[in-house]
Amino acid sequence: METWESLEEQCRACTKCSLSQSRTNCVFGTGSKTAKLMFVGEAPGQKEDEQGIPFVGAAGKLLDKYLEAVGIAREEVYIANILKCRPPENRDPLPEEQDACIDYLRRQVRLISPKIIVCLGRISAMRLIKPDYKITKEHGVFVTKNGFTMTAVFHPAALLRDPGKKEAMYTDMKAIAAFLREDSPE
Ligand code: URA
Repeated sequence: METWESLEEQCRACTKCSLSQSRTNCVFGTGSKTAKLMFVGEAPGQKEDEQGIPFVGAAGKLLDKYLEAVGIAREEVYIANILKCRPPENRDPLPEEQDACIDYLRRQVRLISPKIIVCLGRISAMRLIKPDYKITKEHGVFVTKNGFTMTAVFHPAALLRDPGKKEAMYTDMKAIAAFLREDSPE
């Protein structure tokens, strides 16, 4: 049976793509291993690479604010990325890098078995929900795929660039929080 320890060990030793050569740290994922809510971002940025923890930079701080605003503690969710290593200059992950890395995420999802998976941004939604995902049109829509409830929201970095998207993000996050409370004891 798969264990967290062996999965994390394999991921930290991974050399399946060239990003392993430039990483400071493998950013495996963080949070509750029994989380009902799992966020999946794109790839680590500079701060994440330095610290080995996802979403600790400016975008992560904004994500924390939304979590707080809708009454979800960061410790009760799990946060991971499609790629575990930082692409140079934060460029978009290449398809071959995603292909090399996605199995680690799949195994994390299977170990956690969350009630909902929330893609943070377009790249994650295109990989996990469907290749032609249109984040501007489809954010906040709940879908079922492979037995999992999934949705996508704007990437927090996109909200920093375009504050006009913040209201939609708040609406989507409130819907996610309400979904988590459904059928859950207080
Ligand atoms: N952006 C992401 O997609 N993931 C991180 O971990 C940080 C920034």
